Amino acid sequence: MTNFVDLRSDTVTRPTAGMREAIAGAVVGDDVLGDDPTVKELEARIAAILGKEAAVFMPSGIMANQTALALLPPATEVICEGAGHIYDWENGAPAFIAAVQLHPVATSDGLMHEDLVRPAIRAKSPYQVWTSAIELENTHNGAGGRILPLERMQAIRALADEHGLRIHLDGARLWHASEATGVPEKEFAACADTVMVALSKGLGCPVGSVLAGTAPDMLRARGIRRRLGGSMRQSGILAAAGLYALAHHRQRLGEDHRRARLFAELLSKVPGLRVIPPDTNIIMIDILVAGLDAPELVRRVGQRGVGIVSFTRTRVRAVTHLDVDDAGIETAAQAIEAAMLG
Ligand SMILES: Cc1ncc(COP(=O)(O)O)c(C=O)c1O
Repeated sequence: MTNFVDLRSDTVTRPTAGMREAIAGAVVGDDVLGDDPTVKELEARIAAILGKEAAVFMPSGIMANQTALALLPPATEVICEGAGHIYDWENGAPAFIAAVQLHPVATSDGLMHEDLVRPAIRAKSPYQVWTSAIELENTHNGAGGRILPLERMQAIRALADEHGLRIHLDGARLWHASEATGVPEKEFAACADTVMVALSKGLGCPVGSVLAGTAPDMLRARGIRRRLGGSMRQSGILAAAGLYALAHHRQRLGEDHRRARLFAELLSKVPGLRVIPPDTNIIMIDILVAGLDAPELVRRVGQRGVGIVSFTRTRVRAVTHLDVDDAGIETAAQAIEAAMLG
């Protein structure tokens, strides 16, 4: 559909003309043989941004998360937030791929707290499963792009150190947390042993995530990626898009955050809806009208040329990104207002 305003996710972006040029001009080699210079450049750049020794380019965020979990001792437990992506949206991969089990901890707002983590920790025992790691997500997708404050992460890091636990950070949208708080990515990343960042969410790349950590961990991560079939050959084609996005799209994320606030403001005037004020680029909208559920609202809004998704039976999600401008936001808000009436 032409003029379709697609707010289903920040993954729906198409490569910009500049990004396509960067892809076309990429110098490539065979990364499995270790000689793709553009992949190496991207890995070094992300390791530097995150303050880590090394990084590995991955085809997807899920593969990066699962590789990080597969670094842990098998048959141990990983504490995560109860609506975390690794728990809800990775199709059982921690059990299937990483051979660990998750211990989800419910929070009221998606934000982990050291006082909630502490009672979930299980000490080493020959009888019971024991905790090897804590997983954090920043920003938290399921909680509506919520930012886990640096101080909370530091307190959880201190607790992890007390108990000899590792921390993996799902930072698919860590860029957004940094933009919104002014805290550099590396400060958040310093609280974690391994960090995943995505290039295909918000930054506008067609494919790609990166896992970062210590050099020995990333050497092992390369082996796990290969085992998962994730080694890629002339992947400099994709890495070039990542380098372009870091140079051109990272600094514009504030526009997405501003548009998310504008969208929330416009929708807050629509009867029958409750909008959760966004921290970043994800807007969660609750439907308060009896007899109208999320799939039906999504269908009606879709007929009016706007894409949003159902999140729960009564909650829909919209996400701003670089392919949506102010006019698109106005159109989307009007479409939702009209759709509430039938
Ligand atoms: C927080 C978070 N982590 C991980 C992922 C998985 O990334 P991918 O779809 O690249 O596997 C997503 C995808 O939306 C996400 O939102």
